[in-house]
Amino acid sequence: MLLSVVLALGVPPLALGAVAPVHHQRGVSDDTPLFTRRDISIEEASSAGIVQLLQNPKPDHFRSPIHARQRSLDRRAGTGNETVNTLFSGVYPVVNLTWGNTNANTPGQQFISFIDTGSSDSWVISSDLQCVDINTRVPLSQEACGFGPLYDSSTGSFTNISAQKFSISYFPEEESLQGDMGYAPITLGGLTVPKQEVALVNYAAWIGDGSSSGLLGLGYPAITSASNRKTGKSVEYDPLFTTMVKQGVVSTAIFTLAIDRVPQGTSPLAPAGLMAVGGLVPASYYDAPFTSVAIQSSGGEFTWYTINHTLKYGTNGSFTELTTSGTYQSIVDSGTSPNFIPTSHAKALNALFDPPAVYNATLDYYTVDCDATAPYAAYVIGGVEMAMDPQDMIVRSLNGLPGYENVCFSAFADGGAQTAGNVFIIGAVWQRSYVVAYDQARSMMHFANRKPY
Ligand SMILES: *[C@@H]1O[C@H](CO)[C@@H](O)[C@H](O)[C@H]1NC(C)=O
Ligand SMILES: *[C@@H]1O[C@H](CO)[C@@H](O)[C@H](O)[C@H]1NC(C)=O
Ligand SMILES: *[C@@H]1O[C@H](CO)[C@@H](O)[C@H](O)[C@H]1NC(C)=O
Ligand SMILES: *[C@@H]1O[C@H](CO)[C@@H](O)[C@H](O)[C@H]1NC(C)=O
Ligand SMILES: *[C@@H]1O[C@H](CO)[C@@H](O)[C@H](O)[C@H]1NC(C)=O
Ligand SMILES: *[C@@H]1O[C@H](CO)[C@@H](O)[C@H](O)[C@H]1NC(C)=O
Repeated sequence: MLLSVVLALGVPPLALGAVAPVHHQRGVSDDTPLFTRRDISIEEASSAGIVQLLQNPKPDHFRSPIHARQRSLDRRAGTGNETVNTLFSGVYPVVNLTWGNTNANTPGQQFISFIDTGSSDSWVISSDLQCVDINTRVPLSQEACGFGPLYDSSTGSFTNISAQKFSISYFPEEESLQGDMGYAPITLGGLTVPKQEVALVNYAAWIGDGSSSGLLGLGYPAITSASNRKTGKSVEYDPLFTTMVKQGVVSTAIFTLAIDRVPQGTSPLAPAGLMAVGGLVPASYYDAPFTSVAIQSSGGEFTWYTINHTLKYGTNGSFTELTTSGTYQSIVDSGTSPNFIPTSHAKALNALFDPPAVYNATLDYYTVDCDATAPYAAYVIGGVEMAMDPQDMIVRSLNGLPGYENVCFSAFADGGAQTAGNVFIIGAVWQRSYVVAYDQARSMMHFANRKPY
């Protein structure tokens, strides 16, 4: 999930020019430095900051695998008006997030919440939710939105900020939410912020999974989504992680994600990786060294976790014929499953599957035979070639559902033209092979190979 104003935001023109890749050797010797850049040193997070990730529950139980919507896709190569809900099942990491009650002696209300580095607001669904149809906005029953347990305001300690409201929509799902802004005590793992600004959602156009009913937005303050009720002017505030840093709940402004690959059919809510808040995940998760690159700001302001990189791909086995894109920018987004890449590369890369992945305008994704042979594809970040694991190239999401007996998705979706101002997405499919540290302290991202699991 990516706060969807991304496509409207301007970024500086792209500098085209290939970076010479360096091949990474794993675990070469015991004195492999932790970071390629020797001036960087980051500790493992304290045990209170180590949080178990879970997989998106009931991944294969969505009401409908396809949800056609009427939003124009004109900006995406003029392919038609309809797209599909991003049903890359089992690949959205979630956590159990606790919202405190007025009576602090009670355990609080816990909600399965998406972990989203592509947006900054944290929200939960209120028990007075009005669910509406995602296309027509016609009112529906609460159950129709498919949320898990709802927030009970009568026991919760949500304090309304009555002058503000919340409104957001997400890319690529095109789901949207509205509600109230306020303060609540929030606990993530063993870390509590007693008074965090959050959103309580009472209006939703959503396709839920029956279990999750919240989201933890981990982006920067600049992309929060509160506004003044009277003027409509946006009102920036500190998201949960920013508050943790400012209030000393964590000792350093770094969190790290190790998102697991969760095969289709894995039982709901099985452990699905680890989040470390205030440092790195334990060393058992990665092979050092970490490669570090700068987070790109937009006009001097940090928004998303945007990095410069190239994309390299070719037929597996014929390494003399790899294609390398020019340098472009992508947002590293834990809440978006596929990688969105420039149109020309999406076409060329998807054609290299055997049999080729085919663009499907109804789904607005490339679908591929589940038994196809995948090509080689890698992001080159900080000069280091970081490949997709072949297991993640073919996403078995729709596979097996009625009408989709042998239909899979390609991991690479069309993100539009590679022009100045267009930013792309490095999705969770890629992140499953890497440990990613989000370092707001240094305005850097650090990437290490995930140990095989
Ligand atoms: C990243 O790309 C932008 C846009 O081309 C450029 O202005 C910036 O200098 C690049 N940053 C780095 C660290 O390469
Ligand atoms: C797009 O929407 C218009 C108006 O609703 C409709 O007439 C047209 O057939 C649609 N095109 C596609 C490709 O669905
Ligand atoms: C989330 O927290 C609730 C309340 O403690 C608990 O009942 C539930 O089992 C937890 N779920 C998971 C998947 O840990
Ligand atoms: C918060 O205040 C607004 C504005 O007065 C009001 O419309 C809304 O119902 C309130 N929400 C809650 C949860 O009290
Ligand atoms: C696109 O996918 C839909 C749903 O599976 C299918 O009905 C349709 O035939 C596909 N279109 C193409 C061009 O493959
Ligand atoms: C490419 O080929 C190698 C050697 O046969 C194999 O180990 C690897 O999994 C293949 N990669 C892809 C993306 O299929």
